[in-house]
Amino acid sequence: MTIRFDNQVAIVTGAGNGLGKSHALELARLGAKVVVNDFGGARDGSGGSSEAAEKVVAEIQAAGGEAIANGADVSSPEQVEAMVKEAMDTWGRVDVLINNAGILRDKSFAKMTQDDWDKVVAVHLTGSEICSRAVWPIMREQGYGRIVMTTSTSGLYGNFGQANYGAAKMAVAGLMNTLCLEGEKYDIKINCIAPTAATRMTEDLMPPEVLAMLEPKAITPAVLFLCSQQAPTHRIVLAGAGCYAMVRLMESEGVYLDENERNVDGVAAHFERIGNMDNAREILAGGDHVTKILTKAAHAKGIKGVSE
Ligand code: NAI
Repeated sequence: MTIRFDNQVAIVTGAGNGLGKSHALELARLGAKVVVNDFGGARDGSGGSSEAAEKVVAEIQAAGGEAIANGADVSSPEQVEAMVKEAMDTWGRVDVLINNAGILRDKSFAKMTQDDWDKVVAVHLTGSEICSRAVWPIMREQGYGRIVMTTSTSGLYGNFGQANYGAAKMAVAGLMNTLCLEGEKYDIKINCIAPTAATRMTEDLMPPEVLAMLEPKAITPAVLFLCSQQAPTHRIVLAGAGCYAMVRLMESEGVYLDENERNVDGVAAHFERIGNMDNAREILAGGDHVTKILTKAAHAKGIKGVSE
């Protein structure tokens, strides 16, 4: 099996540097026509120029690939609409969107301003929503689409000083959860990547010998699989230092409490069993949880005819 992207059009946001650049170069090498988006600002989101994106486009073209540079700010609906229109006017379709653009405004919650929160949420969460919204009707019409959201262990697990970033990164997984249900019948598949890589985002957080193990290009194969024709959907893949793993949202079997125990002491008494993961299972839609608890409660009450 050789995965390629011939005749496909991909938009990679924040592709002027780091991970996005690596994804864009590899997509182009494997045949995709690529919109290299980057608004070219500093790590905290200030400033901006299309120079970074243009350099990546020049590199793609020098290697014989096709690409256009785009300087849209992903948090601006108007600029993103214009970017998608440019892709459609140039190549007539959009098969792949990689929501990768990102900024940092790290501070402990006590010191974080509302502006630090708003800016980070605007780029990571609302930016992913704006870009996905702009390609959604095109992908529905085509009956084909692949979207990768860039989440983070800071969101999935937490990280000191990243309340804004972590909340936004967990939220893009929430956006995936619903979009993949709504996109299913149009063959639109959505997945998340949680990378760990040496980029300007992490360059001052780790010592050089550790950074040397964290090449961005080790993340790209996972991202490209997640947006290929063979892509799964609804998956959160972690990648870094040559290691690949998956996060799944598992729900414990849980307990049914009789009415005489349905009080704070009852919950306290059964808390360990509530969280016992022995028979945990993955739930992939909110409705499946509702069916599960209604079935469990009905069985406990001896009500017949309710089953999963
Ligand atoms: P990076 O700073 O090298 O690249 C991010 C790019 O996004 C920059 O080129 C920047 O100009 C661009 N960008 C920022 N705001 C933008 C906007 N509003 N519109 C368009 N472009 C914008 O950082 P890196 O590490 O390559 O980050 C890529 C993604 O991976 C980000 O979403 C980041 O949060 C995520 N990530 C990175 C990790 C790492 O270990 N490097 C860990 C977890 C997540």
